[in-house]
Amino acid sequence: MTYQKTAPERMTETDVIDLLQAQHGMIRDLFDEVERAPADRRGEAFTRLVRLLAVHETAEEEIVHPYARAKIDGGEGIVNDRLTEEDQAKRLLQQLDQAGPDAPDFMENLLVLRGAVEAHARAEERYEFAQLRAHTSEAERRALAAGVKAAEAMAPTHPHPGTTSATKNLLVGTPMAMMDRARDVIRKAMGKQD
Ligand SMILES: [Fe+2]
Ligand SMILES: [Fe+2]
Repeated sequence: MTYQKTAPERMTETDVIDLLQAQHGMIRDLFDEVERAPADRRGEAFTRLVRLLAVHETAEEEIVHPYARAKIDGGEGIVNDRLTEEDQAKRLLQQLDQAGPDAPDFMENLLVLRGAVEAHARAEERYEFAQLRAHTSEAERRALAAGVKAAEAMAPTHPHPGTTSATKNLLVGTPMAMMDRARDVIRKAMGKQD
C-alpha cells in the first residue's frame, strides 16, 4: 500500500520547501497510480491526483511564489515563468477532467499533463526553491508552511482508518472549484482577507 506515501494530510515536514518537494514526489506517485489503475478505479485515482494538484499549485501561487518574487534575485522573471507553466498545466487538467476518465484519449492526454507537471516541478526546484532556501531563515520557512498544511488538511486523499466513507472532503467539483476552495482556506490560514 502506498497510502502513507501519497497522503499529504499526514506529512510531517515543517519546512515549506521540504513540504512542497515531498508533494512533488507524491504527485509522481499519484500519476503512477492513475496509470496503473484498472479502468473501473481510474476515475477515483484521478480525483485524488486532481485534489493534490489543486492544493499544491494553489499553495505555491498564494504563498511561495509571492515570497520568491520579492526575495530572490531575478524573482520576477523566475516566478512569471513558473506561473505560465502552471496555467498551461491547469488548462490540460481541466480538459482531462471535462472529458472524463473513460474518454478514449484519456491515457494519452494524462501523459501530456504528466510531462508538463513534472517539467514544471523540476524547474521550480532548480530555479526557485534552491534560491528561496538560500534567502530565507528556517523560521520564515516554517511560518510559510502553515498555509500549505491548512490546505492539505482539507483535502485528505485517502479515507482515514476509523472514519466513515462519508469523510468530509471539502474538495469536490471541477479542478477550478477545488482551487478556489483551497485558496479561501489558505488565505484564512495566512491571516489574509479576500
Ligand atoms: Fe507549481
Ligand atoms: Fe510545485
